Amino acid sequence: MSRSLLGVLFCVVLVSVNGRFVVEKESIRVLSPYKLRSKHDAAIGNFGVPEYGGSMVGSMVYSHQNSYACKPFDEEKKQPFKTNSTRLHILIVDRGECFFALKVWNAQQAGAAAVLVTDDRDEPLITMESPGESADADGYIDKIGIPSALIDRSFGETLKAAVQKAEEDVVIKLDWRESMPNPDQRVEYEFWTNSNDECGIRCDEQMNFVKDFKGHAQILEKGGYTMFTPHYITWFCPAPFILSDQCKSQCINHGRYCAPDPEKNFGTGYQGKDVVFENLRQLCVHRVANESNKSWVWWDFVTDFHIRCSMKEKRYSKECAEDVLKSLNLPIEKIKDCMGDPEADVENDVLKIEQDRQVGRGSRGDVTILPTLVINDVQYRGKLERTAVLKALCAGFQETTEPPICLSGDMETNQCLERNGGCWRDSKSNITACKDTFRGRVCECPVANGVQYKGDGYMSCEAFGPGRCAINSGGCWSETKYGQTLSACSDSDITGCRCPHGFQGDGHKCEDINECSEGLACQCEGCSCKNTWGGYGCKCKGEKLYIMEQDTCIERNSTKFGWFLALLILGAVVSAAFAGYIFYKYRFRSYMDSEVMAIMSQYMPLDSQHHNQVTQHENGSLRQGSSGV
Ligand SMILES: *[C@@H]1O[C@H](CO)[C@@H](O)[C@H](O)[C@H]1NC(C)=O
Ligand SMILES: *[C@@H]1O[C@H](CO)[C@@H](O)[C@H](O)[C@H]1NC(C)=O
Ligand SMILES: *[C@@H]1O[C@H](CO)[C@@H](O)[C@H](O)[C@H]1NC(C)=O
Ligand SMILES: *[C@@H]1O[C@H](CO)[C@@H](O)[C@H](O)[C@H]1NC(C)=O
Repeated sequence: MSRSLLGVLFCVVLVSVNGRFVVEKESIRVLSPYKLRSKHDAAIGNFGVPEYGGSMVGSMVYSHQNSYACKPFDEEKKQPFKTNSTRLHILIVDRGECFFALKVWNAQQAGAAAVLVTDDRDEPLITMESPGESADADGYIDKIGIPSALIDRSFGETLKAAVQKAEEDVVIKLDWRESMPNPDQRVEYEFWTNSNDECGIRCDEQMNFVKDFKGHAQILEKGGYTMFTPHYITWFCPAPFILSDQCKSQCINHGRYCAPDPEKNFGTGYQGKDVVFENLRQLCVHRVANESNKSWVWWDFVTDFHIRCSMKEKRYSKECAEDVLKSLNLPIEKIKDCMGDPEADVENDVLKIEQDRQVGRGSRGDVTILPTLVINDVQYRGKLERTAVLKALCAGFQETTEPPICLSGDMETNQCLERNGGCWRDSKSNITACKDTFRGRVCECPVANGVQYKGDGYMSCEAFGPGRCAINSGGCWSETKYGQTLSACSDSDITGCRCPHGFQGDGHKCEDINECSEGLACQCEGCSCKNTWGGYGCKCKGEKLYIMEQDTCIERNSTKFGWFLALLILGAVVSAAFAGYIFYKYRFRSYMDSEVMAIMSQYMPLDSQHHNQVTQHENGSLRQGSSGV
């Protein structure tokens, strides 16, 4: 009986001509194999955490035994997906057999970073919803923290075929950057909710969200970063039923604004019109608070009302609501004016606007699910949870205009913790290209200890420029042996690695060259060769001396050689002495000359011609000499 009575009420959108539900999308780009390169749309699942504003690159994996992912993947706990890829794993599963959310939960537990569900029929993309209360006995839906999306059948079959062929990694990029418009420095968002807390899992979800998100919401609102508006869905009573008992008990303003009976039993307990009236009060709280530029008070009112005036505890009443208004110092009379007379046969300004807003315009689509969050006119998909929602809000700001709350540690997604986010990392120095941000993790070669790294960030990063060798040998080969450290990094090169002398390799791996066995050295007659680390030793036969430059042996103790050496040394000494003598002689002579000249000039006039000559040759000395005059 109650079902047929409930059917009397119509949600506005159900009778609106353009009624439509918008499927929110992300894009998927196939990066490899090359012949599959393409771009596709995917419908964002309405649970888990989509990486609004971000993107994710990963390798596709598929499980033939558990293709629906309805069973846990615990048979091979260590590596449930057979792949060699170090990238993040994106699991592709088939639609059917169990709830979407359960597939995603199983995949998350097996280490998947995201899930794509292949549709099992040819149809336009649909939004995957989370199941109702009874299906979530373990509460796993709240624990889903990875994104998921539905893709159309043909694209899914193509991907699966490529993964199963296993010729090369199927690498795809999930991209949510266009899923959330970010036109300017302020985000407008609205939350479609309900004052009633007795509607099961949905009501609990929205109340928990309001409580958890209140802090963030108020910081954003007070800072002028966001403009938030609460909304409430209302129904209306079709004209022939306006005078029926059902519409009278569920509606206010003569059947214009209605809500279904919260307990779904007419006559006893709370009635639909109690809920509509409380919804109206909450709307008026926002409107009145907004007039004095304190719109964030709505969050205080709603959380306090929920705690103090819970319907579950039978304290849902006008009196209780007014106590909350008083404690928050809100103007009760103004709010009463705003609410108007619920018995009057007239439109209510506030609720009329709500009914109009319910019908979708532009990109938003109709609001048919409670609760619904709309950000920058796009319906939010994903779980209604503080961090997930804040991330989506943050993605709604024009880049670089995000408020500080978006850049705080609280917003880190911690994706780098798992498999380093699929980014490059140097295992020795722990330097990583993975950076957590609210837009999801990015793989970007870092600047570490003042040294710039360059590369693609996924597979490779290399230290670049000055100082690079000081840190982990610039990523080049380095080894210490026998108290000696050798490295393939050279500060005189801006980049790259080169094995040192005596070694061969690509610079990341260097091996000692065995000069002896390769015939590179010690080729002299009867020599014995011994390889060492980075070099070699060569011993000549008998008493001969090894000359490395020439790779030959010479006599060491023979008299001939001794004489030769002695003569050589003697020759050198003699020539040095001779040179010194010549030099000394010359300097002394010229000094004496000028000195004698100076003395002589004091006693006898020198002829001018001679004088000129001296001036030309010994200018400095002469002057010095003459200064004594
Ligand atoms: C993974 O590595 C093994 C051995 O290194 C190789 O036999 C196998 O083909 C690789 N699989 C893929 C999918 O690359
Ligand atoms: C709140 O006030 C601002 C101006 O201060 C106005 O632009 C906005 O429309 C108001 N919001 C509502 C829901 O009345
Ligand atoms: C609220 O802010 C608007 C614009 O920011 C301003 O015009 C208005 O005077 C303010 N109202 C109050 C009560 O402060
Ligand atoms: C590298 O970082 C990881 C995680 O932060 C840590 O567990 C590990 O001990 C670090 N290793 C070194 C050598 O610092």
